Amino acid sequence: MTALLDISDYRLAFDGFEGRAHVLDGIDLRVAAGESVGIVGETGCGKSVLARSITRLVDTPPGRVLSGHIRFAGEDVLAMDQRALARLRGHGVAMIFQDPMTYLNPVFSIGSQLIDVIRAHDRAAGQRMRPRVAARAAAAEVLGAVRLPEPDRLLDRYPHELSGGMRQRVLIAMALTGTPRLLVADEPTTALDVTIQAQVLRLIGELVAERGLALLLISHDLGVIGALCRRIVVMYAGTVVEDADAAALFDRPRHPYTRGLLAAVPDLARPDHRARPIPGHIPNLLAPPPGCRFHPRCPLAVARCIAEKPALREVDGRRVACHRAEDIAA
Ligand SMILES: Nc1ncnc2c1ncn2[C@@H]1O[C@H](COP(=O)(O)OP(=O)(O)OP(=O)(O)O)[C@@H](O)[C@H]1O
Ligand SMILES: [Mg+2]
Repeated sequence: MTALLDISDYRLAFDGFEGRAHVLDGIDLRVAAGESVGIVGETGCGKSVLARSITRLVDTPPGRVLSGHIRFAGEDVLAMDQRALARLRGHGVAMIFQDPMTYLNPVFSIGSQLIDVIRAHDRAAGQRMRPRVAARAAAAEVLGAVRLPEPDRLLDRYPHELSGGMRQRVLIAMALTGTPRLLVADEPTTALDVTIQAQVLRLIGELVAERGLALLLISHDLGVIGALCRRIVVMYAGTVVEDADAAALFDRPRHPYTRGLLAAVPDLARPDHRARPIPGHIPNLLAPPPGCRFHPRCPLAVARCIAEKPALREVDGRRVACHRAEDIAA
């Protein structure tokens, strides 16, 4: 498979007063054109930092890339200059985040913000900027595409006049104003009411299918990921521990951490089933545990797990980073 996004051996650290936090430790991840991939993991495991790394939003000080490559459509992202990055952000990779209000400016109307983004994308693509009237028509069109009613009137409204779900739709519209090939959605529905959550997820699924986009959906909620993604990548403390077909992962998790995550999900259909959270905490990344970063919490850890970092390798039709993956399979 030639990957649209290809991240290999990517290490990123943050330098601070207390030392260097090793936040991403050798990430290997590929996403094919049109593929939907979910990333799950506990809070603080590096999901958002990884998402932001794809468009180079975190690798200026205190962030520092220690090793690895990121390629998008064959281009070396880590070597891009500002112009190439602007093009990547407008026309390659679009991002949506958890809290739409943070990314909308309260003092400008929805229309004026969309028009600015549309014209900036024109410039990044090396085209003549559309006049504002034409950009306004494009803005109304994209608001319609995210199923917002009366797009033309909406253009003149301000962010505080919109509900949370509407604001997230506006941000999705903004993300689609370029011509992205990959949509990165970092907890896009976490801040929304449950009923609105389902609508926004459905919208994302429809848009991705209509436009043939690849999707990288980040959530700590396996239910959210399972709704849209055929493939799931599990992260723990800055490493990929398992990368599998969603059905296989739910059915036969092969990494002890994935098993722990699944056991921690309450099963509403079976009230007798008690959700068991994984004991312990994510490690301090200033001094991460040697070997497998999960070993201090792992019920199956043996001496080798402390001595040697497990490579991500093919086991049982998926990729797993665990010395004991075969024992678990047996
Ligand atoms: N700008 C920064 N400077 C220093 N440390 C940072 C910075 N951004 C993130 N970190 C650290 O990187 C680690 C991973 O954070 P990240 O936000 O990626 O976690 P996450 O998996 O997205 O968690 P959540 O599920 O809570 O969103 C955390 O220890 C965090 O404190
Ligand atoms: Mg996050």
